[in-house]
Amino acid sequence: MKSGIRFLVIAVTCTLLLPSCSGDVNEVNVYSGRHYRVDEELFREFTERTGIRVNLIKADSDQLINRLLVEGRNTCADLFITADVGRLYRAVEDGVLMSVDAPELFQLVPENLRHPDGYWIGLTARARVIAYHLARVDPGELDSYEDLALDQWRGRILVRSSQSHYNQTLVASMVAANGVEGATDWAVALTANMAQPPRGNDRDQMKALVAGIGDVAIVNTYYLGLLHRSDNEEEHRVAEQVGLFFPNQKGRGAHINLSGMGVTTHAKNKQNALQLMAFLLEKDAQQRFAFENFEYPVTEGVELPEIMKSWGDFKVDTINASRLGNYLPDAMMIFNKVGWQ
Ligand SMILES: [Fe+2]
Repeated sequence: MKSGIRFLVIAVTCTLLLPSCSGDVNEVNVYSGRHYRVDEELFREFTERTGIRVNLIKADSDQLINRLLVEGRNTCADLFITADVGRLYRAVEDGVLMSVDAPELFQLVPENLRHPDGYWIGLTARARVIAYHLARVDPGELDSYEDLALDQWRGRILVRSSQSHYNQTLVASMVAANGVEGATDWAVALTANMAQPPRGNDRDQMKALVAGIGDVAIVNTYYLGLLHRSDNEEEHRVAEQVGLFFPNQKGRGAHINLSGMGVTTHAKNKQNALQLMAFLLEKDAQQRFAFENFEYPVTEGVELPEIMKSWGDFKVDTINASRLGNYLPDAMMIFNKVGWQ
């Protein structure tokens, strides 16, 4: 009798805890590793237009993938969004995304920015480039990522830690281009050229640049846009002393990392998820990512803000983003081997 009551209590508790994600409600449940205000504004506008409620859960992308694995077919999530192509790769490998057949949607973005079998599609792109101090570095001294290994940069390079997904994906692209051995040699020399042990985020690298700790920094373009727009006078002052150089323009092009989105394997609201994906790829939404977050659009014909126009056009490394993930284990091995903290 006693255990019967306990069972009843547990059963009731479980029912209360079970989220309502039967697919009966007009909603779409989003698990997102992105943490930007513009995303939430766009979700609200999507709801206003379509009547489809967007329920958003934000967390670290790896945590969200783990959560999808644990929840299995009971998950409420319909759409997974992340700011790193390595996490898109992992999501596919772990089986938490489904392949969708939606040619009209996938054709909106170039081939290199979507999964060849429909598991995910790009949302925005960020170029990971070389920032330099305008007074201390002549951009004529810069050329490629590879050249950052030269002796002339000894003690002058700023870059964040190897924990950063952005660096992991960059080094994966170096492996793709130059093989494991080439990328290892490069990473050894780059680590020797660092101005200080890696610390802080990309904005901190640019602050350290202006503080005179180093002369060049590896950063994502959009952070410079954010510093320019910052209300903080100090940050604004930093931005005015930093130039951006897009490397490898004579060769494969500058490395870009992709934010992307994919329908989850056990989505209950697949059509709503696809509708939201299409909405986020509309010209207006793509323009908002550029104007509010300084991210590059993944679709054609989108107007850019003045600051991004001032950075100029550049050649992009067009390796298919889905291939980069193959090289992530090599990249992690290289970080350990060369002692890139
Ligand atoms: Fe970021």
